[in-house]
This record gives sequence, C-alpha cells and structure tokens, in this order.
Amino acid sequence: MKGYRDMTREELLAERQELNERYENYKALNLTLDMTRGKPSPLQLDLSNDIYDVLNGDFKTAKGQDTRNYGIAEGIEEIRAVFGEILGTDKDNIFMGNSSSLNQMYDAIMRSMVFGEVDSPKPWAQVEGRKWLCPTPGYDRHFRVTETFGFELIPVPITEDGPDMDMVEELVKDEKVKGIWCVPCYSNPDGIVYSKETCERLAKMETAASDFRIFWDNAYVVHHLSEDRNEWGKLPDMLSLCESYGHANRVYEFASSSKITFAGGGISCFACNKDNMTYAKKYLNAQTICTNKVNQLAHARYLPNAEAVYQHMMKHAAILRPKFEACQNVLNEELGFDDLWHWTNPKGGYFVSFYAMPGTATKIVSMCKEAGVALTPAGASYPYGKDPQDSNIRLAPSFPVIEDIEKAVRILAICAKITAVDKLLEDLK
Ligand SMILES: Cc1ncc(COP(=O)(O)O)c(C=O)c1O
Repeated sequence: MKGYRDMTREELLAERQELNERYENYKALNLTLDMTRGKPSPLQLDLSNDIYDVLNGDFKTAKGQDTRNYGIAEGIEEIRAVFGEILGTDKDNIFMGNSSSLNQMYDAIMRSMVFGEVDSPKPWAQVEGRKWLCPTPGYDRHFRVTETFGFELIPVPITEDGPDMDMVEELVKDEKVKGIWCVPCYSNPDGIVYSKETCERLAKMETAASDFRIFWDNAYVVHHLSEDRNEWGKLPDMLSLCESYGHANRVYEFASSSKITFAGGGISCFACNKDNMTYAKKYLNAQTICTNKVNQLAHARYLPNAEAVYQHMMKHAAILRPKFEACQNVLNEELGFDDLWHWTNPKGGYFVSFYAMPGTATKIVSMCKEAGVALTPAGASYPYGKDPQDSNIRLAPSFPVIEDIEKAVRILAICAKITAVDKLLEDLK
C-alpha cells in the first residue's frame, strides 16, 4: 500500500470513506474498552493468591521478632535483603514502607519541602521559583507530585539512552533546579533503559544546588517481558555510582512489589546512603512507629531472594507477552505501511508508547472515546499535560484481555489513519 503522502486527493478521499465505514461499524458495537492505566490483570494478581498461606500462624522473623507488634521502623531484615539484592545495594540502605512507592516519593519531597535535605541551605518550600527536571514523556503521577509542591516542571526530552544529558548538564547549572525524576529501567511510557553512560553522567555532573536529588524510581526493575536473561534491562547501582563521583547524597531510589504481588496490597521501599538515611529517619521515626511488617514477612517468605522474584516475574511475563504482541501485531498490520507514526516495542515495563502524526493525538483520543475506547488523555505523559507535538498516546495493554486489546488498538489505528488523512487533505486545499 502507498504511503498517505504519496496519494492523490482522490485516493485520500476514497481511503477516508473506507476508514469511516470501519469506524462507524465499530461505533455501532457499543464497546467499552479501557487501555488507560498500567494495572495488573486479575490473572496476574491470582499468581500471588497463596502469599499469605506462608504465614501459617507463625509471625516471627528469622531473628524471632514478632511482626504483629510495634517496632522495626525500617522494616524486617529479610525483606530489606530481598530488595537490596534486586536493587544491587546493601540491605542497610533500605527503608520499607507500605503499599505505594509513590507515597514514599511524595513523603521524601514533603520532608525536603518542610525541613530541607541533609545538605540544604534551607527548606525547599523557601526556595522561590524552585524547579524540577522531568524527562519527557514520563510518568504523569511523578509530574503531579512536583507540580503539587509548587515546582516549575522543566521538560527534558528522552532519547534511546535516557534523558538528553547535554540538556540536563546545562539545566543543573541553575541552583533552583533541585532534582530530576528518573524511571531508569523500562521508562514509563517509552520503555527505555538508561545507558551506562547516562547513569555515569547523572552521577558525575556538577550541580549548582548542593542538595540536588535524583529520584531514581526503579518501578520496573524486575518487570522484564523476555525469558532470555540476556535481554533484561540492566543498570549500575546508582547509589555506589554517585558515591564514586563524590556525590553520595545525590540519589533516592524507590521500588515496590505493586506489580510483583498485589498493586493494592504490596510493600514498597526507598534506598539511599547513610547520611540521607539517618536524616530521613529522624523525621520518619516521628511520623510512624512502623509499617505493615506482617505483609513484609509474607513477602519475604513467599519471595525469599532475587531469584525467586525473577521466577515469579516470568509468570507475569507469560501473561503479559501475548498482550504486548497483540498490540504490535495490530499496529503493524494497520499502520506498518507508512512512517507517519511510530511506536515502541518494549522489552519490559507496562506500556507501549504510540506517536501519532503530530497535531492529531488529542483528536484520536476523543474519536476513540466516542467509539468506546478509553485511552490515557493525550499529553498525559508531559508536564502540565501538554505535549507540544500533540503526538504521544500511552497504551496500557496489561489489564484488558487479548480480544479487547486487539479491538481497542485497531480502533486506535483507524482513528490515527482518519486524522492523518484529514490533515493531509486539509494541507492539499
Ligand atoms: C514509574 C512508576 N512509578 C511508580 C508507580 C506506582 O508505584 P506504586 O504502586 O509503588 O506506588 C508506577 C505505576 O504505574 C509507575 O509507572
């Protein structure tokens, strides 16, 4: 098939007619399909249904501590060891929390706002015009956190290697720039794994702010799609990398079991160096006596080491892979004939990032909605919800069943074609 830009006006009109019929046929089906959020499907959640069986009336840790009671604010040793192994850092660098790493990120920034960091000249709330770097497209909820705390969100384009480091190195010369969001393994939504060089440059760069922080959100650290371990995204341990360049305080790392066991009933953690940890604990110990250690124990017994986690994640991958493949197949089938659009084919994580012809994403999302397909709003992956190209649409194939994914992605593709044809016809006027 000819690319749309090579078609005559008549050919485009004929194509438009055909696409319109297909679109109206789908509309007549009164579908309700949802590709909005990266939620695990019920089948994935079922993988961990027996997690609490391992407790079996025994709530004591290996050291004999009673997890039902108060105490051990940083979390029990055995689960800190599991996360330490996954993240490649020592268990003593880890502080466990309840079921949301996003909550931990929010709290970490809240502490800096009110009290400042261990190396801050003053609390961040007192820094007029504070700024935060947002690799873009990125995770909408990250952006919402820093927007809520009054940071100006500075977009930094993401490349195949991670954030554009030339730009980051320039921007951090401004002392009002206090930090950067990073999803280094299978970034949300593009599925990018930061290169070793990007990690090195982030660790090494000189920043004007003495209290600059990297929020290293390793949400997808074990969320590989491939059985082949050579294909798994790998990262250096950012804590020791920052330390090796004399910036030991620079990074807070986050992770959780939300998409390993239960998204609504898991456990989370943050990792940082000793100075940051001692400082954070001063406030955390005022905030809470402990988090849910019974859940930590269940997780530690159920998934006692990194290898157990990897094997469990391969069960998720077996469920997720066909869904991601279904997405790719339909996109290739419908849109492979032209390069007016492109999309990612990630090796892990939860998303496929679709880039429509610039200037059409908002229209595509609203047309999909009319046809019963809910998509994340166009622009959601950009600071302030504004994609300057109006091109990116984040697709989340984890939750729906394959049949629904195929329908939803086909409708998306039809809408992408309709809007592209309309735009080209407009240009021909
Ligand atoms: C990059 C990223 N970080 C964090 C989260 C949320 O993690 P949690 O459930 O631990 O709060 C998500 C969820 O989609 C995510 O994509």
